[in-house]
Amino acid sequence: MLLLDGKKLSEKRLSALKKEVEEHYEKTKTRPGLAVIRIGDNPASKVYVGKKVKACHDVGIHSVEVLFPESVSEEKVLTEVEKLNRDPAINGILIQLPIPKHLSEKVLMERMNPKKDVDGFHPLNRGKFLAGDDALIPCTPLGIMNLLKEYKIEIKGKSALVIGRSLIVGRPMSLLLDQAGATVTVAHSQTKNLEELCERADIIVVAIGKPHFLSSQKIKAGAVIIDVGINRLESGKLVGDVDFEKYKSIASAITPVPGGVGPMTICSLLENTWKSFLNTQ
Ligand code: GUN
Repeated sequence: MLLLDGKKLSEKRLSALKKEVEEHYEKTKTRPGLAVIRIGDNPASKVYVGKKVKACHDVGIHSVEVLFPESVSEEKVLTEVEKLNRDPAINGILIQLPIPKHLSEKVLMERMNPKKDVDGFHPLNRGKFLAGDDALIPCTPLGIMNLLKEYKIEIKGKSALVIGRSLIVGRPMSLLLDQAGATVTVAHSQTKNLEELCERADIIVVAIGKPHFLSSQKIKAGAVIIDVGINRLESGKLVGDVDFEKYKSIASAITPVPGGVGPMTICSLLENTWKSFLNTQ
């Protein structure tokens, strides 16, 4: 079994990015800048945003974290987004999800300058991506594609199963696999024949957010498993959506949790920030 080591690959890619950022800084005395908006006290968001800010620091990308209380009005967040849209020191803007229910994700995303939309959540980026044009692409699925490429996992002609259809992961993941030549099935909570789909798939991506969701299903010997889940159990232990121990000897390649997809998401965010920076120079 091949362990798809996202931690190692993200370190390699981020050290290459750091070199580019430094070389660019030497020539121009300018650096990319990322602004992360975090609303409320979601403990997981706090951890993720902390990791994003630290990664920026390590690579030499300027970063700011904008904090709002849970009760903030939509107007206030929109005013901040507009301010960041105009700020020449900021090339990337990210609003950490989930956000409180009284705020509209759609309204906030649409107000962002699409050139600074490093999450790829603005409708213009979603549309370009769907059409196969150059666009900012959501970080988690983009990171997964980079991981598959690094380990030379063949996608063309393969049968891929994506479990979960969120706009952050499942949907864009299915599109990327489709664009790479896989035949893709998307499964979700209404799917009736999940067992059968799991047995047939060459590549399975699980992005459903339920600890060890994939544990009893049979899979094809030699299948590739990508686990997007990061679930914290009451004991404090982090587990994925996949029972790693159960599948590690059946799969030909599998991502660990932690150290698989998570670091690749952060890596893609910084790469997208660099891309936005170059596009706005
Ligand atoms: N929350 C969980 N994953 C993500 C992500 O990729 N982007 C943002 N903005 N929020 C998230």
